[in-house]
Amino acid sequence: MSVGFAVVGLGNWGLMHLAALRSHPGVEVVAVCDADGDRAKRTAKEHGIAKAYDRIEDLLSDPDVEAVSVVTPDFAHTDVALAVIESGRHMLIEKPLATTLADCERIIAAAEKSDRRFMVDFHNRWSPIFVRAKEAIDDGRMGDPQMAYLRLNDQISVPTEMLPWAGRSTVTWFVGTHAVDTVRWLFGREVRRVYAVKRSRVLKSRGIDTPDFFQSTLELDGGGVAVVENCWILPNSTPNLIDLKCEVIGTEGAVYIDASHHRALERYTSQPEGGEYPDLFVCPKVHGQIKGFALESIRHFANCVVEGREPMVTLSDGLEVTRVILAIHESAETGRAVDLA
Ligand SMILES: NC(=O)c1ccc[n+]([C@@H]2O[C@H](COP(=O)([O-])OP(=O)(O)OC[C@H]3O[C@@H](n4cnc5c(N)ncnc54)[C@H](O)[C@@H]3O)[C@@H](O)[C@H]2O)c1
Repeated sequence: MSVGFAVVGLGNWGLMHLAALRSHPGVEVVAVCDADGDRAKRTAKEHGIAKAYDRIEDLLSDPDVEAVSVVTPDFAHTDVALAVIESGRHMLIEKPLATTLADCERIIAAAEKSDRRFMVDFHNRWSPIFVRAKEAIDDGRMGDPQMAYLRLNDQISVPTEMLPWAGRSTVTWFVGTHAVDTVRWLFGREVRRVYAVKRSRVLKSRGIDTPDFFQSTLELDGGGVAVVENCWILPNSTPNLIDLKCEVIGTEGAVYIDASHHRALERYTSQPEGGEYPDLFVCPKVHGQIKGFALESIRHFANCVVEGREPMVTLSDGLEVTRVILAIHESAETGRAVDLA
């Protein structure tokens, strides 16, 4: 018997959830849902899925739906998440869990009354590159991690062309959440103090009211310090949609990661855009099928539902990351350090 899954929010990333779930042998995607009803119907037809809904209430009154992936925009997670949990379904939710602490706490309180499985999709924990780094830290070869640098930046096409709702989010909600979770996970420690600066110029001049970048210093429990950079204004001519670099220096060793410009494949054509370094790890297509670690985190959640196991990432991880992102925003706004309780 397969588990009946549904995906809510069928934009860029909802299609990734569909691909991961449809290729899982223990899962049947029984329904999809999008506030844009035409998009829901079109997606269901293209993927041979029986049912399409445009209201979450209708989706959740369908008895075939046992588990739900929530892939709505950053600012539209809470109501959907609460409805899914309170209806007794398992739930995988995209980052951020929610954009206020009160909303995260409401979601967690609802989940505590349920015996279902819940996870936030912090997928760097499935990246083979970061997993190797984490192993080197955990087995003691690097001593105690002391300092880290993590840069996760996007081309300007992300806020200007890809996300119609960029002005209702920030680069920190969109990719800073991955960066902060990765730092917490690599160090195995929580962030206790935050100093951040931001600037708003390029995107504002294009009519998108969101900062261009944040630069944040995070002090962790136990003395570690991480510098995190996130920007949404990389030129579109850069060879990869994202720029992801990381280094961690410990008392007895160091790891250096280049997850985006490692040049495992460089492609040059006569097209005007010039050279590119195509994605080989996150979600590359291989013989027409999407592969990569971004699908592995979704499959991990499906495995946990099928096998009755607890997922590797919890809703509390989502709360902690939201706490840090809010502190980054506050520090960047006030110019002062923010202590986290
Ligand atoms: N894990 C990752 O690396 C990754 C990558 C991209 C996006 N995301 C996350 O996925 C989420 C969606 O991002 P996206 O790029 O797919 O956005 P998108 O704009 O491409 O798609 C969002 C979809 O949700 C629908 N929608 C909006 N409100 C809804 C509601 N209340 N009920 C049902 N449908 C609703 C919209 O009509 C749209 O089709 C965001 O939280 C984003 O941060 C994660």
